[in-house]
This record gives sequence, C-alpha cells and structure tokens, in this order.
Amino acid sequence: MATKIKRIGILTAGGDSPGLNAAIRGVGKAAVGYYGWEMVGFRDGFRGLVENRRIEMDRAAFSGILTVGGTILGTSRDKPHRMVIDGETKDMTGVIRDNLKKWGIDCVVCLGGGGTAKNALRLHRAGINVITLPKTIDNDVAMTDATFGFATALDIATEAIDRLHSTAHSHHRIIVAEVMGHRAGWLTLGAGIAGGADVILLPEIPYNIDKIVAAIHKRTKRGSKFSIVAVSEGAMSCDDARIYESAEKSLRRAKTLNGKIEAKREIAALDTRHQGNTMRLAHRLEELTQLESRVTILGYVQRGGTPCAADRILATRLGAACADLINEGKFGVMVAARGEQTEPVPLEEVAGKRKSVPLDHPWLETCRRLEICLGD
Ligand code: F6P
Repeated sequence: MATKIKRIGILTAGGDSPGLNAAIRGVGKAAVGYYGWEMVGFRDGFRGLVENRRIEMDRAAFSGILTVGGTILGTSRDKPHRMVIDGETKDMTGVIRDNLKKWGIDCVVCLGGGGTAKNALRLHRAGINVITLPKTIDNDVAMTDATFGFATALDIATEAIDRLHSTAHSHHRIIVAEVMGHRAGWLTLGAGIAGGADVILLPEIPYNIDKIVAAIHKRTKRGSKFSIVAVSEGAMSCDDARIYESAEKSLRRAKTLNGKIEAKREIAALDTRHQGNTMRLAHRLEELTQLESRVTILGYVQRGGTPCAADRILATRLGAACADLINEGKFGVMVAARGEQTEPVPLEEVAGKRKSVPLDHPWLETCRRLEICLGD
C-alpha cells in the first residue's frame, strides 16, 4: 500500500565503507528526483537524530559524490538506547521519536552493518519507520548476498598481498598479512585466494600452528623459501578458541546482572589480549621454521578511498530500491541483494545474526584443492 511520504531522513552508522556516498546518492536521486520528496541527512550516525545535526539535501547534494570514499554525513558507533550524553549513558529512543515527529520526518534510512540493523530494529519497535541498507567491508550481514564496501576492500587487500609477494620472495621471508573482517573471514579468504596466499587463517577455522609450520616446510622442500600467510584479525589458535568459547558460554549461562558483567569483562580482556595475535603468530613461525618473518597489518587502508565499480553499482541499485520500498510503505526491513534483484527482509531476521564463512563453502574447497593451508 503506497503511503503519503513527504520527507525522509538518512544517516550512516558504524565503520565507514566504500560505497556509502554512492548509496546516499542512489536513495537521494530516486527520493528527491523521481518521487519528489524532501530528504534530510543526519550527521554522525544515530547521534545526529538526537542532537539535531541536520543537513537539508537537495539535488545538488548528490552531485560529485558517487566516487568519493567515506561518508559525507560522517558516522559513529553510537547506539540510540545507550548514548553518552554529558558524560551519562542514556536511552535516547523516545527523544529520537519525538524529534522525528517534530521535524516532520516520515522515515529514516539507516546505512550500516549488523550493529546498525540491531539499532534500527529497536527504533522500529519504538514505532519509528526505518529501513536499512547493508554496508560493510566484512560482508558479514545476514540475509543478503552482498554488502557494499566488500568488493573494494577485497581489491585493496588483494593488491596488498600481490605486492607482499615480491618482497617476501626476494628476502626469503614469511610475511604475515593481517586482514580486517571482524569475526568473519570473507575478506581474508577472498583476498588470500585472489592474491595467491600460501596459508589462509580465518575466524571460522581455529588453527593449529604445527599444521602451518608443516605447510611452510613442504614449500621450502619444494624450493619456495618464502610464504605469504593471510590472517584474519579475528583468527585464533584452537587453544584460544576454546578459551573464548568457555567465556561466551559463561555469558550465555549468567543468570544475574553481576554474572553477566563479569563474563563480559572476561571477554573484553580476551579481546584486548587478542590484539597482538598476529605479531605473536609471526614470532612463533619464525622460531619454528627458522625463516625470517615480518608482519603487515593492512588496517584502515582497506576501507578508505573510492569505491570500485561493483560497489558503486550495488550501492546505487540498493539505494534506488530503498526509495521504491519507502513509497510502498515497507518499513522495518533491510534492502537485501538477491542476485540481480533486491528484496525486503524483516530486520528481525538480520539483527543479531552474523554471516560467517560456512565450513562447506566452495571457496574453502578451492583452497584445499590448491593445497593452501587453512591451519586445520
Ligand atoms: O566493520 C568494519 C571494520 O573495519 C572491521 O573489519 C573492523 O574490525 C572494525 O570495523 C574496526 O572498527 P573501528 O573503526 O571502530 O576501529
């Protein structure tokens, strides 16, 4: 059923990602140009809805932004229900609902990943019309074939691994390249295959260092005295995975608030310790293989700069489809990519879920046929 839309809001939340501006433009051109609505941008994620960080966006606002990296609206990881205001953590959901009513905003488009879908769902349950678009370089949003940002980050990480090859080869070294992706291995797996890595370590497959050493020794015996190890920032050894699993189990089983706080503290301490994991892995590999080892952390380079063509197309078509769904009055959904089509998916089916690499994924099979070590 078509609704009487006059004015929509848009914001970007979570880590930035190539293609965000292409998506803002896609929504904007369809909303303002095709449908004739007004559009308001909110700066810095959900905080913009609280602190009235508004920008009126007319056609001119969408000019020249297709190729621009980052987000012209700015972003933050602020949550509507737990926002720090004047040093105090407050639930701002009611304030947001009142503000949107006061400003005459009929719905808010939220561009973000899994965390944004969770926050948007909370707003939807509070009676606010929301719709989300899936962005993240991690490609870990549930219920969509793809997220914009991933293809660009994949190109960047692949090029980096390409370049590491010649220096690793020249110095007869192991180079351990740490790739982003949070708790999902898509980026490492893709870049590892495309860049010709010899070892690929993912959060989904806890590794045994002896298996990695054996794979490197095999290469040395065959005459290749260098190796490229692509490791996800979230990858961990079998021992560490067991420790995490037990901490997560304690959190799930905690019955009291204090028990929950304690379990969360333990996980946070493990996260802090995990930060040096790639360095420790390289040291250990050097000790065990007697090959000089170096680390390259690809870091934020992976999500900076202009989006590739595939991300521009994906972000633009999701943006245009988003305007159609708003026109149909379909709220509380994420605009998912399904092949060449798009599909509205209820936020309940997206929020709190992560799309990890399935253990029977064909890319993993490809690795095994090519004798790429997966650490297991
Ligand atoms: O979700 C995108 C991402 O770049 C992850 O790959 C990474 O773990 C995280 O964001 C880094 O977050 P921040 O920008 O807060 O350091």
